Amino acid sequence: MKKKDKWIQNPKDILVENLDSVYAQAYQRIQTNIDLSSINRRMKVFAITSPSCGEGKTTTACNLANIWAYKGKKVLLIDLDLYRNNIHRVFGLENRIGIVDYCTNEATFKDILKHYHALDILTAGKKTIFPELIVGSNILAKLIKKCRSKYDYIILDTPPLLMVNDSLLLKNCIDGILCVVSIGMTKKKDLEKTIHILKEAEIKILGIVATHDVLKKSYDTYYAYSDKEKAMKYKKNEKVKL
Ligand SMILES: Nc1ncnc2c1ncn2[C@@H]1O[C@H](COP(=O)(O)OP(=O)(O)OP(=O)(O)O)[C@@H](O)[C@H]1O
Ligand SMILES: [Mg+2]
Repeated sequence: MKKKDKWIQNPKDILVENLDSVYAQAYQRIQTNIDLSSINRRMKVFAITSPSCGEGKTTTACNLANIWAYKGKKVLLIDLDLYRNNIHRVFGLENRIGIVDYCTNEATFKDILKHYHALDILTAGKKTIFPELIVGSNILAKLIKKCRSKYDYIILDTPPLLMVNDSLLLKNCIDGILCVVSIGMTKKKDLEKTIHILKEAEIKILGIVATHDVLKKSYDTYYAYSDKEKAMKYKKNEKVKL
């Protein structure tokens, strides 16, 4: 099955259904790590990128946003991958208008704001042949600035960094970037290049999120990936404090 077909048939597949599951807890832990890195400056607006295509950026963005909103945080998720926007499909939302329409003065914030339970979402909206002009626009920067006071977190899904530099254009709007890598797919040299580019651009790297290998394997293997002791406890059915 082609990837595109999969999205059309089962786009919601990527959402973690059980919001108290071990998978949800893993996303929750990312929030803890981000908060811990926020001692001097609160990290609330961040982009999600990865070196190449299909490494799990949208999956990570959607699940982080959905789970954090479920846990009581006020979260805004914005689809800024204006090449392969998929967030509307994941949440089963219509995408007639979205952030592109707002940035071209064809819609208001109220017009484009959509919801999935407690989560606020701005889908991409109409197709544009100039994604970088939208992503780098003052109107988008002003919107994000205005939303800072309304939300605990603003999560921006962006395209692959080694393909297009849209996430770099967001530098002045964001507090940092989460970089997604796919175990088995992402090449080491591409990750190194990505980190180099982000450092050169002086964008704070909030962390690296590993996908694919992690969720494909069993829970004990999953914990082994991050914490061997917790893996053993989980295996023995002991309570694990994340
Ligand atoms: N942690 C994960 N474990 C297993 N499969 C995953 C994981 N994250 C993503 N996937 C799967 O990998 C595929 C690509 O994921 P996704 O669309 O999120 O990547 P992407 O980086 O946003 O891709 P693109 O560059 O095309 O926007 C999807 O089929 C998704 O279901
Ligand atoms: Mg994507």
